[in-house]
Amino acid sequence: MPGSDLSIVPLTPSLGAEISGIDLSGDLDEATVQAIQDALMDYLVVFFRDQALDLDQLSAFGRRFGLPHTHPAEPDVPGYPGVLKIHTDASSKTYSGRKWHSDVTCDAEPPMGSILHLHQVPASGGDTLFANMYAAYEALSAPLRQMLDGLTAVHGSEHNFRGYYGTPDEDLRDGMFPESRHPVVRRHPVTGREALFVNEIFTLRIEELSTAESEALLNLLYEHINEPRFHCRFRWQANSVAFWDNRSAQHLALWDYYPETRSGHRFTIQGDRPV
Ligand code: SIN
Repeated sequence: MPGSDLSIVPLTPSLGAEISGIDLSGDLDEATVQAIQDALMDYLVVFFRDQALDLDQLSAFGRRFGLPHTHPAEPDVPGYPGVLKIHTDASSKTYSGRKWHSDVTCDAEPPMGSILHLHQVPASGGDTLFANMYAAYEALSAPLRQMLDGLTAVHGSEHNFRGYYGTPDEDLRDGMFPESRHPVVRRHPVTGREALFVNEIFTLRIEELSTAESEALLNLLYEHINEPRFHCRFRWQANSVAFWDNRSAQHLALWDYYPETRSGHRFTIQGDRPV
């Protein structure tokens, strides 16, 4: 283990680990970056406390793991490619991450990971839940897994992004709302493990099935993903960081702290085409 103080403490048996003994604002050596990457592969989401990062430091940390991802509809924080503002206060009407999802799966190459830093948190509440998509897949019966292995899902964005961001069509990243087809079960490019890859925010339908069959199967899978045995729940403090792998985990943010403010930034990392 590089860096004599680095320690990793799992959050639940299913996923999540808190890493301490690292200052993310500094120049990290290769061995430390590799240790974080290895922990991310093992635990699917890793957490850090007491990291007073500014946007330059958050971006620099994120870029150690990949290039910044450009969101199709939400503008970056000016001057910071890949950085989105995550903010809710008394004037908010809705919020990001209100259903189980992995990020931006409407893209042909959805982000591999996301790093969220919150600098302001409510007195209580505002937790984020994470779910292990390897475990959810492996817990299904063999005949159902076999059926899912051959299926493709359509992931869209207009239904979700048009009203939410209100970005005029000419300002969208590609001049349109992306829609992509992905396998219902994807193989993780690093671990080689299979993970469920449908989610409540972006997945529209399963291509090979009738509308009724697709709806019933997706609802069954969403209920399954929602089982607490696949989850961990992260309680934020000011200057906590969560770094999740969008290829193997989903997340759900809770808005149970109205009218308090919860505020921070997310650096999103480019990914590759799911197979
Ligand atoms: C998101 O979906 O990226 C938001 C997560 C959160 O606010 O906890």
